[in-house]
Parts: sequence; C-alpha cells; structure tokens
Amino acid sequence: MINKNKIAMISGITGQDGGYLAKFLLEKGYKVIGLYRRGATDTFSKLREHGILDQIEMCDFDLLEFSNIVRLLKKYQPDEFYNLAAQSFVQASFEEPIYTACADGLGVLYILEAIREFSPNTRLYQASTSEMFGLVQEIPQKETTPFYPRSPYGVAKLMAHWMCVNYRESFGIFATSGILFNHESPMRGKEFVTRKITSHFAEMVTGLTDKPLELGNLNAKRDWGFAGDYVKMMWLMLQQDKPDTYVIATGETHPIRDFVEEAGKICGYDIKWEGKEENEVGIDKKTGKIVVKVNPKFYRPAEVELLIGNPEKAEKQLGWKREVNYKSLCRMMMEADLKRVLEGKL
Ligand code: GDD
Repeated sequence: MINKNKIAMISGITGQDGGYLAKFLLEKGYKVIGLYRRGATDTFSKLREHGILDQIEMCDFDLLEFSNIVRLLKKYQPDEFYNLAAQSFVQASFEEPIYTACADGLGVLYILEAIREFSPNTRLYQASTSEMFGLVQEIPQKETTPFYPRSPYGVAKLMAHWMCVNYRESFGIFATSGILFNHESPMRGKEFVTRKITSHFAEMVTGLTDKPLELGNLNAKRDWGFAGDYVKMMWLMLQQDKPDTYVIATGETHPIRDFVEEAGKICGYDIKWEGKEENEVGIDKKTGKIVVKVNPKFYRPAEVELLIGNPEKAEKQLGWKREVNYKSLCRMMMEADLKRVLEGKL
C-alpha cells in the first residue's frame, strides 16, 4: 500500500490492458478512476472477471469530446493518466480511417491540451505501438528505429506519439510513450489473431463447432508478450524522474502459423500444412480433418510482415524482465478458453 492517496485515471478501462492495469494499481493502493465509452461493445465483463469492478469509480468518457476530458481532469486532478483508449483493431482502421485518426491521433492531443491547461502535474502514459514501425527499417526495432506505419491505425498512433514528445519538450508535460509490441492474454478480444485461434480451437475440440478456423496471412511474424507483464511497465515508466519513450517487447518473434500449431498441440491436433496462399489449409494428421483454412477476407491492404523488438533500454532503465514466455502464454490462453467452454462462458 505505498500509494494510498494517489489517483490513477485509466481510459479504455474495459479493454484487455485496462483490467490488468487497474488490478495492479488497486493492489498498490491507488484510487482508480475508470473511463469508458458508453455504448462500446466491450462492457464490464473483463473487470468483473478480474473481480475488481466494484472497486473502481467508473465515468463516461469519449476521446472525441474535449469538454468531457476537461471536466474529468479538472474534477479529479489525477496523479497519473493512462491513455489506453483507442480504436485498436488494425484491420478496422482501413475501413474507419477517419474515426481512427480522430480517436487515436487527435484524441491524444485533446488529453495533452487538457493536461496542459487544467492539470499540469498529471503524468501521462500514452499507449504507443509497434505498428508505428510497420515496414520495419531495422531488425530488431528499438527506440531509435525510424518509423514507417502501414495502416491508418499506425499513422494515427504515430501522430499521438510525436505529440507526446512535443508536449514534453515544449511545455514540460510528463508525457511518456510506451511502444508496446503485441501483448496477449486470456482477456484479449476475439478479433485479434491469438484469441481468435484459442477460442475457435476450444469450440472445435469440444464439439461446439465443426467449422475450420479461417485466418488471413499465416506468415506474418509477431513479438508476443503477456499483457499482465506489460502493464507493470506502464506504471514503472511513470515512476521515473523524466518522461521518455520505451520499447516493450520480448525480443522473440513467431509466425502466426506457429501459434496455430502450438495452440493446436494443446488440443491434441498435429497440424500439417498443404496448398499455397489462399488455398492453404492446415490438416490434423491424426484424423485427416481440415482444422484451419486461409480466407483472403482477413488479408490486410498493407501488411506488417515482421515485428521483433529490442527491450534493452526498458530492461536496463526500468529494471524490468518479463515473467511469461511465448509457450506459457499460448498454453495460458488455450487453457482459459477450454475452461470457458466447459463452463459455458466462452
Ligand atoms: N486479427 C486477425 N485475424 N489477424 C490475422 C488473421 C485473422 O484472421 N489472420 C492472420 N492475421 C495476422 C494479421 O494480418 C497480422 O499480421 C497478425 O495476424 C496480428 O494481427 P492482430 O492480432 O489483429 O494484431 P496486430 O498486430 O494487427 O495489432 C495488435 O498489436 C499492436 C501492437 O503491435 C493490436 O493489439 C494493436 O492495437 C497493437 O497496437
């Protein structure tokens, strides 16, 4: 209970990271103000699953409503503001580029302006992303690697990132940017590839569906960490003397098909691949059944083919080391979804 009187405001509290972070901060003794968008499809289910909903003061919030952000900051004067709110699904950003640019780019500028005018002592954590590296200019990617975003989402996030850097340098605002690589957990939304795989396999192996899992690009590579590990970094970043930019990653990369095989193994599937590109399928060697099928519907207009981060700066300066590795993460997610199916809660 070291931070008894500190107030943390978390926007996007209903998402995967919001739940893990809120739990972590509550355990540290923070008063947590949770900001959520009324009418968002994702409701309070994750906070309920964490068992913390009744400990959080929830407030309506919209990244595009400047007056609302101002009122909240004036009222609570939070010590820390974690901006986890965003349109965070890369594929959707190609269909909703304007909304994404407003929410993920301009919305962050609103927060910075509100902090500057009404709550200048608030420390801001901005959820930046490895998607800003996009068409990677260096392997592995670190804080100094040039950016080359490949989606409206990546472009919008890059604007927000540079705004944080600029407000730091221009106005002395404590705006820290965490460039987090993909981070997953049993609380991940089912639209993201890892959870799409584990939730579908859980249904398939228990007989709830006999349809194969349909995926897009199986060859893209991602650096996947555990969300529960990564939220600790967000907090650590705000405990430093100065605001800065940090890459958070595992330094390991795996293609999507590898995650499919790994999750499949836990369900008893031994997958072999046949065919090419949109005709490729994954077949369970034991039964001869097609368990995975490529569907070009899930291809992206421009793809980020490879992400692998170098977390050296964060490890050294923040004294951080991840606790969950790739295989344990996959197992954790697969087992959680199998349990949910058995309990009728998937
Ligand atoms: N979602 C999805 N669905 N992705 C698929 C599928 C599919 O059916 N098939 C293949 N993929 C590939 C995508 O093309 C992409 O290369 C990769 O799987 C990962 O996709 P996502 O899990 O949707 O995540 P992302 O990498 O696009 O973005 C996530 O990570 C970023 C950090 O790098 C999101 O959480 C972003 O909000 C986050 O910033």
